[in-house]
Amino acid sequence: MFWQGHKKEDYRTVKTLFLSLIICLLGGSVMSASITTKEGKPVDMGETITLLKPDLNSTAGLMQALSKRQSDREYTSEPLTLEQVSEILWAAAGVNRDNGKRTAPSALALYPITVYAVFADGIYKYEPDSHKLTLAARGDHRDASAMQDFAFVAPLNLLFIADFDKYKAHAQISAEMRKMLCGQDAACMAENVCLYAAGNGLKNVVRGSVKWDKVYDVLKLDTNRYCGVLAQTIGK
Ligand SMILES: Cc1cc2nc3c(=O)[nH]c(=O)nc-3n(C[C@H](O)[C@H](O)[C@H](O)COP(=O)(O)O)c2cc1C
Repeated sequence: MFWQGHKKEDYRTVKTLFLSLIICLLGGSVMSASITTKEGKPVDMGETITLLKPDLNSTAGLMQALSKRQSDREYTSEPLTLEQVSEILWAAAGVNRDNGKRTAPSALALYPITVYAVFADGIYKYEPDSHKLTLAARGDHRDASAMQDFAFVAPLNLLFIADFDKYKAHAQISAEMRKMLCGQDAACMAENVCLYAAGNGLKNVVRGSVKWDKVYDVLKLDTNRYCGVLAQTIGK
């Protein structure tokens, strides 16, 4: 036997080290999860993530949220829960009426802004109609999504990206005006997330600073059609 000639304490030390390693590995996998369940278990970051229905009976009060709204620039890497991620995306761009219209207003109801959710495991595109996230790029691209260190550790960064093709039927709207409308639409969406975060004990900051060229590369976006408008970091 390999432990013959060794003291019983040596064997105990090896056993303790082995158990510690297993605990570290298990703990590490939870810590590095992009999203967790309420119980802290990692959510499978597959091709599609089905989001949860928002809790419309949540007691977070609007005046409380307004009084707490502020920008934060210090984050831990602690993952958000699926409930929180679901409600953040619904607050930004979710469908809230039977006519398909959304939580945030949009000029001419054209909804030119797509929200991408940047996690440590990948970038996901939010699909408002199905309330799902679909994988757009595997891997940790938080570096591309920001120019400030806090965003590289935060569990979630949102990218608001405009699709100018949504204005195709509106030739009277100039290119300059389209850009302005997209910025205004994105600002409304981001403010919804600001208030959700403030009302639910989460930190956030709206950001104009993004390495957009890197984002376009990663997401393979044609810059004649798509334009990054705004970003937002959310976490704890
Ligand atoms: C369009 C826009 C872009 C912003 N860009 C950044 C940014 O890139 N980085 C950052 O740290 N804060 C950014 N901010 C946050 C502002 O600095 C912040 O709102 C301001 O200092 C007021 O502080 P408060 O939000 O805590 O009230 C941005 C805010 C807006 C509305």
